[in-house]
Amino acid sequence: AVMVGRRVRSRRRWWKVVTAVQELEAAAATPVGRLRQVVDAMAVEMHAGLASEGGSKLKMLLTFVDNLPDGENGIYYALHVGGTNFRILKIQLGGQRSILGRDVERKPIPQSLMTSTSEEFFDFIALALKEFIERMGNNLQLSQVRGKDLGFTFSFPVKQTSVSSGTLIKWTKGFAIEDMVEKDVVECLQKALSRRGLDMNVAALVNDSVGTLAVGHFLDKDTVAAVVIGTGTNACYLERADAVIKCQGLLSTSGGMVINMEWGNFWSSHLPRTSYDTDLDVESQNPNDQGFEKMISGMYLGDIVRRVIHRLSIESDIFGPLSYKLSTRFVLSTPLMAAMHEDDSPDLREVAKILEETLDIRDVPLKARKIMVKVCDVVTRRAARLVAAGIVGILKKIGRDGTGGISSGRIKGYKSGKMRRTVVAVEGGLYTSYTVFREYLNEAVAEILGEEIAPYVILKTMEDGSGIGAAMLAASNSARSVDTVQ
Ligand code: GLC
Repeated sequence: AVMVGRRVRSRRRWWKVVTAVQELEAAAATPVGRLRQVVDAMAVEMHAGLASEGGSKLKMLLTFVDNLPDGENGIYYALHVGGTNFRILKIQLGGQRSILGRDVERKPIPQSLMTSTSEEFFDFIALALKEFIERMGNNLQLSQVRGKDLGFTFSFPVKQTSVSSGTLIKWTKGFAIEDMVEKDVVECLQKALSRRGLDMNVAALVNDSVGTLAVGHFLDKDTVAAVVIGTGTNACYLERADAVIKCQGLLSTSGGMVINMEWGNFWSSHLPRTSYDTDLDVESQNPNDQGFEKMISGMYLGDIVRRVIHRLSIESDIFGPLSYKLSTRFVLSTPLMAAMHEDDSPDLREVAKILEETLDIRDVPLKARKIMVKVCDVVTRRAARLVAAGIVGILKKIGRDGTGGISSGRIKGYKSGKMRRTVVAVEGGLYTSYTVFREYLNEAVAEILGEEIAPYVILKTMEDGSGIGAAMLAASNSARSVDTVQ
């Protein structure tokens, strides 16, 4: 009787696991109909954000980048701050769409700096740049970079006042240097450079998505938008100046301007939200903020999976005794999650290893390892498909999704009756290094667009795009780094 009782109990627990996973799948489902609702919501919010300041959760920020570089020459430096790693770049541009050389150095940003003071933070950056220049030039005198232009990629929401100045609106992605908010970012960097004896000129302040668009466009003229899916997520695109209603009169109506959407903060009731997302948000540093980002980007995906496994472990014993590690936020990073998801060994050895080393969960049966992979799959699939919907939302807004209808007498998105080639530059670890994520994303873009339009829309990977783009924009703006706004 005892034996039977035990078996029944354990079966019941297994049943609970199956139910919980099914519930997760249902709540996170992204059938194409739902994705189309997200597409529409994205396009509507874009209009609202362009119509008035604060008109939408999408900030639709001006970048003052109104012409994208194409034939720059020379050596430029760039700094990139905004994710887990801080990057320093030296780029040699050869005009004519060619990047002749690049040196990139990555440094992890110490956790303590992310919550320090602006002075400490920028001192760290300036010192790293100084050391990099010394190393690159074989101890070349710092005086040789005197007056050189520097591009600065700062991947946070910034209210720009020109292409080379702007104030931080708020922090995202776990950064919290309170005295920086509303300060001019370039001024802080410029002062830190002087303190280190570096006499360089910050000629461009750009968001990482904008840098990615600049490189994308440098390499391929049909590039109209860029997306970043790394620690955080964001997108930018080329908009007609007359569509930016909130600052009519300020921009010359003939041209265009790159708009930094800050789509990480997008929200719509059509998003497939689960209880795990709600909990993650409540416990985060920025509750009620960056809702789209929290369902998509590298900072959060691993933690959503951790939350699901935690619940499964409370409700059943398939993962053995409850591991206290499962209640620690962010113990399971997204790269580890990807490694489990992509484990193709028959007995899921990699999954077992990561469960043991990271979560202190040992000797779990194959059945449980499979559950782990399934949960990773559900979470990643949803994220990738939401990005796809966001991309098509942008295409819809600019009439490149093939459904634009007729605007001022011509069919939007078509040139002489033919659909135009449209390129979207994509950068960030989830796209470049997580194959399943990339495949789900590409597949969903094609699914939403349909087979007639899909062949005209091309997603192109831009590794290090954001930093290189900042160097290019520094190059093209150095001669005219005059404020666009009085
Ligand atoms: C966050 C930032 C945004 C950045 C994105 C990707 O969403 O707010 O500015 O572009 O992360 O790094």
